Amino acid sequence: MGMAWHCISLLVILAGLMVRGNGFPAEDFVEALPGQPKVGFKQYAGYIDVDVKAGRSLFYYFVEAEKDPDQKPLALWLNGGPGCSSIGGGAFTEFGPFFPRGDGRALRRNKMSWNRASNLLFVESPAGVGWSYSNTSSDYNTGDANTARDMHIFMMEWFKKFPSFRSRALFLTGESYAGHYIPQLAVALLDHNADSKDFKFNIKGVAMGNPLLKLDRDVPATYEYFWSHGMISDEVGLAIMNNCDFEDYTYPSPHNVTEACNSAISQANQIVGDYINNYDVILDVCYPSIVEQELRLKKLATKISLGVDVCMTYERRFYFNLPEVQKALHANRTNLPHGWSMCNDDLNYTQADGNLDMLPLLKQILQSGIPVWVFSGDQDSVVPLLGSRTLVRELAHDLHLQTTVPYGAWFHKRQVGGWVTEYGNLLTFATVRGAAHMVPFAQPSRALHLFSSFVRGWRLPNTTQTRMDD
Ligand SMILES: *[C@@H]1O[C@H](CO)[C@@H](O)[C@H](O)[C@H]1NC(C)=O
Ligand SMILES: *[C@@H]1O[C@H](CO)[C@@H](O)[C@H](O)[C@H]1NC(C)=O
Ligand SMILES: *[C@@H]1O[C@H](CO)[C@@H](O)[C@H](O)[C@H]1NC(C)=O
Ligand SMILES: *[C@@H]1O[C@H](CO)[C@@H](O)[C@H](O)[C@H]1NC(C)=O
Ligand SMILES: *[C@@H]1O[C@H](CO)[C@@H](O)[C@H](O)[C@H]1NC(C)=O
Repeated sequence: MGMAWHCISLLVILAGLMVRGNGFPAEDFVEALPGQPKVGFKQYAGYIDVDVKAGRSLFYYFVEAEKDPDQKPLALWLNGGPGCSSIGGGAFTEFGPFFPRGDGRALRRNKMSWNRASNLLFVESPAGVGWSYSNTSSDYNTGDANTARDMHIFMMEWFKKFPSFRSRALFLTGESYAGHYIPQLAVALLDHNADSKDFKFNIKGVAMGNPLLKLDRDVPATYEYFWSHGMISDEVGLAIMNNCDFEDYTYPSPHNVTEACNSAISQANQIVGDYINNYDVILDVCYPSIVEQELRLKKLATKISLGVDVCMTYERRFYFNLPEVQKALHANRTNLPHGWSMCNDDLNYTQADGNLDMLPLLKQILQSGIPVWVFSGDQDSVVPLLGSRTLVRELAHDLHLQTTVPYGAWFHKRQVGGWVTEYGNLLTFATVRGAAHMVPFAQPSRALHLFSSFVRGWRLPNTTQTRMDD
């Protein structure tokens, strides 16, 4: 009797393990990262070859949801640049479960991690970013089309490593230049679905933070932001408004503008100055020379401004360049000839792709019935809400979507989390009060609330009585 019970419970445990194991790749399992606090969820990291012949391979970092990962959706996150790291950005300084510690030699827990709401997949994209690489150096001459194509292949191949996620609700998310990556990828996956007789991506939503969508609105918004925040004079503000034709503005310098416009723009940048963080104009800045010395001396580089460690980017670079960290992550398997950096400036990315208008792609996504959220940290001057808000409204107008939530405050912990509006029960624009270009960086709690609502398919609460705390 006792024996039989043992056998049965052993079988139950084994069956449970097999289900929990899900056939995930053992070689990509991350035991623990150096200096990592103990946690109950699993992490995986490794490579997915997207072109074996060229030797092109993308690096990913995957974190299971903190609780009930089998019941939670899958969210893909891409940082922008173009050429910046999703692992250095999203995963380890914005909303992943760990942040670098002040001495750059260990990790601390982020209590507001988005893996409370979802399984999280971060990808270094395109090849050349972070630990993604190609053996064929001409692959580093790339642009939007190649990036979307490789990410489509990546997703197909990643699902082979993680088959239990194939049919899981999939959310495509990102920030900044991912305003190009995410719509282009979403459309590539929708095209795949239209052509495919068998496997289809189960896309449930698209969300982008401070995204670059269309230059003729996003660029003037920066100067309007400078002006409205007292960062430039009336004279310079007026000179820009009078002399710049942003209709013809191009992403690559010298931007196809008149000399008078270029001169006003450079005056503006001079007045704004070097001692401000353009990505969050209310935060103090970190002095790299001081930080680097502190890190060498094994001291804490931490500098707190408004509750945020503004030196985290330097702590991150130190941590990711530790050989033991790269080993624990199964990263850098080809011993890349350069160190780890947040953005790859050597990537020869087609700058003209920055001119592309993303609204037609967003239109296509919405017409497929997929919800789109554009959210915006309201302290960002780089891709400010002034542009995104207008573009979302234009998009709604173009699609004849009626306002389904009138512009108004949303709440978190009985305070205003930001302002929000919704069109056609499908298209949402939301600001996050006090947040940077990297929305979760300065407002982790509000950002988590926004993300949790998004993946649940809930609206942001319009009263102080909210139905969830995270
Ligand atoms: C790239 O080159 C390295 C070193 O020659 C080799 O081990 C690897 O298999 C090649 N392909 C990929 C996808 O890494
Ligand atoms: C950058 O890429 C373009 C084509 O994508 C190519 O014509 C150009 O020569 C490349 N520049 C460098 C410096 O490799
Ligand atoms: C540059 O601006 C002119 C008008 O000033 C316009 O005709 C032309 O199409 C623009 N070029 C690009 C590449 O946008
Ligand atoms: C990869 O490893 C080599 C040493 O083998 C190191 O010099 C280089 O900085 C590392 N690069 C990255 C991107 O981690
Ligand atoms: C809040 O939202 C609910 C549900 O969408 C709506 O019925 C209600 O009128 C809204 N209240 C306010 C104050 O806007």
